[in-house]
Amino acid sequence: MIAVATRERDIDRLTTELDSLGLAIQTVAAPSDERRVALVAVPKESSGERLAVELRSRGMLAVSRPDGGARLAAWQRDTAPVTIADRITVSAAWSEHHRHHAPGLIELGHGGFGSGHHPTTRLIIEELVERVRLGGRVLDVGCGSGVLALSALALGASHAVAVDLKPEAVSAAERNADLNDLAGLDATLEPLGAIPGPFDVVVANIARAGIVELARVLVAQVAAGGCLAVSGISPRQCDQVAGFLRPLTELRRRSEGEWAVMVLQK
Ligand SMILES: C[S@@+](CC[C@H](N)C(=O)[O-])C[C@H]1O[C@@H](n2cnc3c(N)ncnc32)[C@H](O)[C@@H]1O
Repeated sequence: MIAVATRERDIDRLTTELDSLGLAIQTVAAPSDERRVALVAVPKESSGERLAVELRSRGMLAVSRPDGGARLAAWQRDTAPVTIADRITVSAAWSEHHRHHAPGLIELGHGGFGSGHHPTTRLIIEELVERVRLGGRVLDVGCGSGVLALSALALGASHAVAVDLKPEAVSAAERNADLNDLAGLDATLEPLGAIPGPFDVVVANIARAGIVELARVLVAQVAAGGCLAVSGISPRQCDQVAGFLRPLTELRRRSEGEWAVMVLQK
């Protein structure tokens, strides 16, 4: 099976396009007023991924989906929307789960880490909910899918810069901004020090080694009175990481299982 996400108004166009490729829509789910998810049968489940790649190269939001059994149950679990602090809901675009009236809905397509299911992503979004001010500027270091930068824009930031080492993450962040009609995103592969700052809020969900390596420039990118939220570290690494981020002062740290978020202020 292949799941293809589209909008209600585009379903006829999608049907025609799939038909021209010899593919037929089996059912269409309507998980929100706008979103439609077309399920397309493929001859063999093993050919699904290859076909999904081809459909994506034609600009479709397509993904291979298990047909049934335990793998489908896992897939349904992994594509369930996640609501964070009652303000932001992150969902895969092709999720079949109900999300009518979900607060601050952000839908994500293919590529880049960050689906809202990982504790580190959620811990940082909780901080964004508290700290993003209307019209503020946010820097997302290690943007992956762009989920943090897009959450900041959905929370009222006027401008978010999303930076990553991987070109596929930068393009995923750009596609996801378009998908959600969110203006104000600048996604880039530029080195952190070359990005014009400073920013009211800087977030970096990268591992301890990355934070330590970038510490000096992360600190420099925080505006006076602004803050830096770091995650991707364990609770026992916090003291050491805070040391590298001086002269920022720690405002708070929280953890979920093996993962911590630490917020520091300039
Ligand atoms: C754990 S993912 C976080 C994705 C997303 N921001 C989130 O919170 O779900 C880490 C991302 O950081 C990127 N990354 C790792 N080290 C980096 C560095 N030094 N500079 C920029 N990006 C980096 C990786 O390529 C990856 O996309």
